[in-house]
Amino acid sequence: MRVVLITVAIFCAAVSTTVESCSPSDLAALEAVKASLTESHLGLFNTWTGTDCCVNWYGVSCHPETRRIVDINLRGESEDPILAKSGQSGFMSGSIAPEICNLDGLTTLVLADWKGITGEIPQCLTSLSSLRVLDLIGNQISGAIPADIGNLKMLRVLNIADNKITGEIPASFVNLAGLMHLDLSNNKISGKIPAGFSKLGMLSRALLSRNQLTGSIPESIGNMPRLADLDLSRNQISGGIPDRLGKMKVLSTLNLDSNLISGELPRSLLSNRGLGILNLSRNSIEGNIPDVFHADSYFMALDLSYNNLKGPIPGSLSSAKYIGHLDLSHNHLCGNIPVGNPFDHLDASSFANNDCLCGNPLKTC
Ligand SMILES: *[C@@H]1O[C@H](CO)[C@@H](O)[C@H](O)[C@H]1NC(C)=O
Repeated sequence: MRVVLITVAIFCAAVSTTVESCSPSDLAALEAVKASLTESHLGLFNTWTGTDCCVNWYGVSCHPETRRIVDINLRGESEDPILAKSGQSGFMSGSIAPEICNLDGLTTLVLADWKGITGEIPQCLTSLSSLRVLDLIGNQISGAIPADIGNLKMLRVLNIADNKITGEIPASFVNLAGLMHLDLSNNKISGKIPAGFSKLGMLSRALLSRNQLTGSIPESIGNMPRLADLDLSRNQISGGIPDRLGKMKVLSTLNLDSNLISGELPRSLLSNRGLGILNLSRNSIEGNIPDVFHADSYFMALDLSYNNLKGPIPGSLSSAKYIGHLDLSHNHLCGNIPVGNPFDHLDASSFANNDCLCGNPLKTC
């Protein structure tokens, strides 16, 4: 009798030990990922020990039923609870091991703001067909965006801002039909915005500033139904501003500053009801400012400085409901500054360096 009990006990222990290991292939993949990264300050990877990578491995989560790894979420900035508490900011070096591509249940990969992760985005990452969030912001990652990134059919968030990514936006990019949030800011991405960019019909934020993009703004961008925030600032984009951008229904922020944009200001853009932040500073925009402002015009920021605008400041601007920050400086405007509510709080710098503007807050005519 006693022998039987002991046997049962040993059997049970054996079963529970097997349960306490995560998928062996996931475990091997994570061990390879750990081996190629170094984070010594906080010691996060000290928690990546033992055989059950689903329990107490910092930043790792598994699916409750399949016990396959679904999330890797490691942030080096204070958004992370551990860092927020210590008031510190983390540092990690090394690179992303290609073995990460063996985590075929992965839906979220966040290795954000570690400042020192180098190497390339593994090409094989595009085989992770469940991936929804890829966030590698704030590192030193170089190389190109994987050519077949468009295979990531589930991808909702792609954030690789503040790295050293080079090359062009691959053609397959336009197949990311579910993409909602895109941030490629502050890299070294060159080439044109791909024709067909407007196929990204779910996209609400497209942040591409501070790169080396050339070519013109595809007119079809104006057909993107959910695009609320478009930032193409500080590139080398040329050509005109498509009239259709001004007809977009949900666009609220448009930053095209510091490019090589020419042509005139579309009337639709300045009369758009939802657009609250418009920065067209430091381009070569010419012609008059269209006289199309109205009682619903509500601009938190309207920056048209450093262009070649001429003629008067349109009188309709004084009928706007609100103009928080206005910058018309460094143009060739001439004539009386309109009077009215939106102008009361503005100082002379908003109008400086024009040809012959006069009236409050500048000198009288
Ligand atoms: C507009 O862009 C310019 C140049 O990139 C920048 O200096 C300026 O601060 C921006 N204006 C606003 C209101 O953000």
